[in-house]
Amino acid sequence: MDDQGHEHKNDSNSESSGGKDDGILYVGIDLGTSRSAISTSNGVRKVVESYVGWPVDMVARKVLKHDIVIGEEALKLRPMLDMHRPLENGLIKEGSEKDAEAVRQLMKHLVVLGGAGGKGDGKKQVRAVVGVPAEALRVNKQQLRGALTGIVDSLMIVTEPFAVAYGLDALLHSLIIDIGAGTADFCVMNGRYPNDEDQRTLNSAGDAIDQILTKSVQEKHPEANFSEHMVREWKEAHSFVGEPPERIVVKAPVRGKPTKIDITDEMRNACESLVAPVAETMIDLIARVEPEYQDRIRNNVILSGGTSLTRGLSDRLQAILKEYGGGRVKVVDDPIFVGSDGGLAIAMDAPDSDWERLSSG
Ligand SMILES: Nc1ncnc2c1ncn2[C@@H]1O[C@H](COP(=O)(O)OP(=O)(O)OP(=O)(O)O)[C@@H](O)[C@H]1O
Ligand SMILES: [Mg+2]
Repeated sequence: MDDQGHEHKNDSNSESSGGKDDGILYVGIDLGTSRSAISTSNGVRKVVESYVGWPVDMVARKVLKHDIVIGEEALKLRPMLDMHRPLENGLIKEGSEKDAEAVRQLMKHLVVLGGAGGKGDGKKQVRAVVGVPAEALRVNKQQLRGALTGIVDSLMIVTEPFAVAYGLDALLHSLIIDIGAGTADFCVMNGRYPNDEDQRTLNSAGDAIDQILTKSVQEKHPEANFSEHMVREWKEAHSFVGEPPERIVVKAPVRGKPTKIDITDEMRNACESLVAPVAETMIDLIARVEPEYQDRIRNNVILSGGTSLTRGLSDRLQAILKEYGGGRVKVVDDPIFVGSDGGLAIAMDAPDSDWERLSSG
């Protein structure tokens, strides 16, 4: 492995991440549609499913013994909860106070998990770099600021793929494609802060695949009974593009009886739906770079995000690059923490003047 081969061993020794002992807690947060991760300067790394739920009624509250449930726990307990997945399509859903509050609770939960205790914790200052989809940066900054006020002291909002590039030290002549649940985010790195032209966001990502898969399996097996969560699990276990690596047979109840159904063709079509839009945007972004650098960028395409684990995807994109003079497409080693580690690296390096202070009050 070359430029992306290094790992961030963020163990308890904060020196290993270039620790500064200035009484400030630096954190990198990857705010994701399906899961959110935090990496901190005191060596903590945590990931949480981006779900927030409130008990639906008095009975649920009595059973749950909590006023709010966050993360995987919420997913498990969903029949008892008013569930919110506040970041569908990579944006904080607008017009819903519950969703805004859900983002706030999710961020608070992450920051506390990251080691910045609540009040009475000696009030260690927290400086957070938060990675969001490229387009959210234009639309949604204000909402994010609101959600973080009172939770962190200083904030820097960056795009998710830029955080990934920074963490991998792939800052020059690279193209990062971060394909998550809500969005696919693209960023060309030219050795400086990327601008709007260097970045793109598509809404074709994991959630869109889940929707296509759900619809086509329903059409083929109208008698079978399954939830969106089951569909996502099938996809995560069996996703592929190109030739089927094996027949894909899953179990779903038919009139209460677990029954095997073959979903190979449906899986293929659903996953393939990603290829054309991603390839088109990849080619378009490369074509905009100065001609003398295009070759280097084609040879340094980096895929991150959960959906980049789809079998055959990187090979397919690399095959498409062949028609444009050839290239290399690699998948990152650690898709869960690569974004938050990158955010942390930015936080540690950023001069005071790059930070935005959030006033709590
Ligand atoms: N093996 C796999 N094959 C295909 N998709 C997968 C696989 N594993 C996870 N995924 C999908 O990856 C997505 C989650 O990826 P990730 O955690 O990068 O997203 P996110 O950061 O929450 O979303 P976004 O970046 O869009 O806000 C989900 O849609 C999930 O189903
Ligand atoms: Mg993401």
